[in-house]
Amino acid sequence: MDTLSILAYLVLLVLTTLSYPFIKQRSKTSHNKLTTRPGDLRPPPGSMGLPYVGETLLLYSQDPNVFFAEKQKRYGDVFKTHILGYPSVMLASPQASRFVLATHAHLFKPTYPKSKMALIGPSALFFHQGEYHQGVRKIVQSSISGPQRISPLIPLIEDIAVSTLDSLPDGSVICTFNAMKMYAFDVGVLSIFGRLSSEHREELRRSYKLVEKGYNCFPLSLPGTAYHTAISARRRLSQTLREIIHERKEQLRVAESNLLDHLLRYRDGEGRGLSDDQIADNVIGVLFAAQDTTASALTWIVKYLHDDAKLLEAVQMEQKAIRTANGGSGFLTWNQKRDMKLTQKVILESLRMSSIISFTFREAIVDVEYNGYLIPKGWKVMPLFRNLHHNPSFFPDPQKFDPSRFEIVPKPNTFTPFGSGVHACPGNELAKLEILIFLHHLVTKFRWEVTGSEIGIQYGPFPIPLHGLPARYWRATPCA
Ligand code: HEM
Repeated sequence: MDTLSILAYLVLLVLTTLSYPFIKQRSKTSHNKLTTRPGDLRPPPGSMGLPYVGETLLLYSQDPNVFFAEKQKRYGDVFKTHILGYPSVMLASPQASRFVLATHAHLFKPTYPKSKMALIGPSALFFHQGEYHQGVRKIVQSSISGPQRISPLIPLIEDIAVSTLDSLPDGSVICTFNAMKMYAFDVGVLSIFGRLSSEHREELRRSYKLVEKGYNCFPLSLPGTAYHTAISARRRLSQTLREIIHERKEQLRVAESNLLDHLLRYRDGEGRGLSDDQIADNVIGVLFAAQDTTASALTWIVKYLHDDAKLLEAVQMEQKAIRTANGGSGFLTWNQKRDMKLTQKVILESLRMSSIISFTFREAIVDVEYNGYLIPKGWKVMPLFRNLHHNPSFFPDPQKFDPSRFEIVPKPNTFTPFGSGVHACPGNELAKLEILIFLHHLVTKFRWEVTGSEIGIQYGPFPIPLHGLPARYWRATPCA
């Protein structure tokens, strides 16, 4: 690879990692005026690096987390830099994160490369701000959260967990992350469509895989490139979704309560519904938001449990007691989440340690004053979740995996694996539930061994254990 290609790849890699939230149009919400004349304010301390490239190369010549941590040490919790072609302000304090994501969210818009928007679909809710975002978000949230909506999914999610685990070849090395992706995809499809024919599900899976591949590549749309293949697959995805939407419109009177049916029924304040394209973009958006995040989290949990035999044994005991209470084969119930206290803490600690979404990205839509500093209009703003999660003032001995730290509720805005404010994750309850269900079946019926001696992290785009955690899985004998 020549230098330019490497640079382009790095830029893309970062954009991918940064890329969760997005926006298509400017917020029409009124904004707070500066209390001080802009000329009297300065951006926060920091270094802008070289002309044009800023500090992008420095960022990628080392572990990005080290880059951020060192800057924080040198300049404090709010500092400026210049990466990926943009002047940026990084925020590593709970107050600053809350300011941008919650209390003053109307002064910042999500921001995202056009090439990625084209693959997901420009109407996906996370690109938006204001009325449209609020309307669609309300539907998504009411369809995939709360016991009334998600507890009926428990037996169906259990079926998916069991068949995912049963499909693992006994004793052969597999990529854990890939298996988790299959699981998270199927649960995502279930929560979006309810029951779906296996033909449609497999068509979606095939096209989605290609879209995903292109998403992580350089956005050059020439025949033969991964991006071009992804754009074609995205068109096929739309076609499949149009067919499903058409069928659903006909059956809507007897519909189940899933996200697609809610999107089809949606009417805004003026009685307007969503177009088929808007529905398709949001379906793909939710699938995108749901799959790799949950699969990465699960992969880390499998690793952390593997690395701590005592902890694994304690989790096994907790889950086996629930299995025995259910007669050995009965379905889990919503209330049994309460009996999974240790497993829940393991999940929280894994989310803290791995900080899958290390930071998020916004752009100032006006000149903003924060704590006596100027955040100029057009600058990127990045709340650094990982820095908060790894700050010893909030989480003592932060590199130690210690689920018991969650016996005490973390201080406000210090623990935000699911974000915070107007774009906070509406799928967080579902994600935790599907992880609990998978772990219940994994630890009570299987044992596993991670293979290879290499330790490390790779980004795909979220951080995962190196090579997706190759491991062997065996069905445990009843007395094991
Ligand atoms: C462990 C798994 C997950 C993690 C760590 C996670 C994390 C996050 C974070 C940090 C955000 C906010 C990003 C920002 O503010 O820029 C977010 C947004 C979102 N997540 Fe999740 N997520 C997970 C699973 C899910 C699942 C299972 C679903 C759906 C079934 C989902 C749907 C969404 C959607 C639709 C948004 C955009 C919300 C908006 O813009 O209003 N996520 N997620």
